[in-house]
Amino acid sequence: MENLKKKLQQIEQSQVIEFLEAISPDRKASLLRQIEGLDFQKIPEWVKKYVKNQDSVKIPDHFDPAPSYPARPNTAEQVQRYADAVKTGQDLISRGKVAGLVVAGGQGTRLGFDGPKGNYPISPVQNKTLFQIFAENLLAAGKKYNTIIPFYIMTSPLNDAATVAIFQAADFYGLGSENVFIFQQGSLPNFDFDGNILLAEKDTIASSPDGHGGSLKALCDSGAMADMQHRGIEILSYWQVDNPLVRVIDPLFIGLHAADKAEMSSKALLKAGPTEKVGNFCLVDGKVTVIEYSDLPREAAYRKTEDGSLAFELGSIGIHLIDVSFIEKLNNGGDFALPLHRAVKKIPYMDKNGNRIQPQAPNGVKLETFVFDAIPLADRSVILQTVRAEEFAPVKNAAGADSAEVTRQMMVARAAAWLEAAGAQVPRKSDNAPDCTLEIAPSFALAADDLKAKLDQIPPIKPGSKCYLG
Ligand code: UTP
Repeated sequence: MENLKKKLQQIEQSQVIEFLEAISPDRKASLLRQIEGLDFQKIPEWVKKYVKNQDSVKIPDHFDPAPSYPARPNTAEQVQRYADAVKTGQDLISRGKVAGLVVAGGQGTRLGFDGPKGNYPISPVQNKTLFQIFAENLLAAGKKYNTIIPFYIMTSPLNDAATVAIFQAADFYGLGSENVFIFQQGSLPNFDFDGNILLAEKDTIASSPDGHGGSLKALCDSGAMADMQHRGIEILSYWQVDNPLVRVIDPLFIGLHAADKAEMSSKALLKAGPTEKVGNFCLVDGKVTVIEYSDLPREAAYRKTEDGSLAFELGSIGIHLIDVSFIEKLNNGGDFALPLHRAVKKIPYMDKNGNRIQPQAPNGVKLETFVFDAIPLADRSVILQTVRAEEFAPVKNAAGADSAEVTRQMMVARAAAWLEAAGAQVPRKSDNAPDCTLEIAPSFALAADDLKAKLDQIPPIKPGSKCYLG
């Protein structure tokens, strides 16, 4: 005990045992376990570098726009390259080399939904949840390529049990429990502005999930990596839990990544404007690097090229391919750690007198890591542009922009576009929005091309009707 007290004194965090003598033996044991789990070596550095220092993000002196593959090939050479890549991707998928990874450990505070965000009902006709949509996509892709595509799901200590219960109750959405691997990310302590670790309760350190970047470590620590290696998985298709439009298994993307021998690749969107709140793909010392929208200097954000487009036009949307061997390399390279990012938040805490305080204004700092900070650590990295209406409709907010309502509209709009491209008639309103509610199950079509062969199975769609193709 004396030893622990001394260690806490050395890192100036003795306040975490303020109530130690006032709590019951089992609560005391629980608190001591949490304290032992703290990274005593790194905490002083975090406090100095990230908690007290408001300018912890260093913008490189020189950076350029990152090169990318366009969403559609532009030249004959590119047409050939894309066709070859699709074949390579299909081959890797069929040989069971690809798995899905969704990061679902976020707290979803902006949406304000009770429970894991993945359980949010979103599909326009059937009200399927995000988790169900992803699982059905993986199941359908597995059927299409005659293989099994395992599903790895990262949770946090806050939503792990609830997520496991959801998958169990849904009988793993038909994937088979043996093909679903749910694992937890780590946590980091929360600090006040002076660098003191906060207590959430007398026996509980205030902490929060360590960000989506925590996936790269948690995959290893949880045994998920070992499971992948056992199955022969080589590439992880990574996406965020809030985006039901994501093409979870994309042969073209996989093929380009593999053909270029990339270790970590990304999909990108053409930004909607100079300051859209997405990370910017840049090139720093020859390495693809994401600079957050809040850190991109104004001049760079507004800079235009000769053809009038934004110089930094590629936005990051949390869709990546990550080689299993790259994750292994990172974790085996000694003390692997992604940089931390600070977020100023309202953090409920226990004051010196043992009163629980719900602050009305931000009172402290949460730290997290971002997965895209691993991209520059990769030897090679590919960026493939994608089209917003095809692949990006995140559910972030309860209302307004990026809300469930907008996401559902985009799901219907994409289904309508796919149907029309296949030759079906879709009733439209005077403003050109579909005059019907449409939903295409992944088992019916994974992409627009799959619909063409099924035209005879598509019933006439009446104005104002609901149509589910499943
Ligand atoms: P967001 O940045 O949207 O954060 O996460 P959030 O926590 O879900 O939502 P807000 O900001 O509280 O409203 C982007 C993706 O990263 C995952 C989320 O689950 C989401 O898929 N994530 C985020 C994690 O898995 N772990 C984290 O610690 C943070």
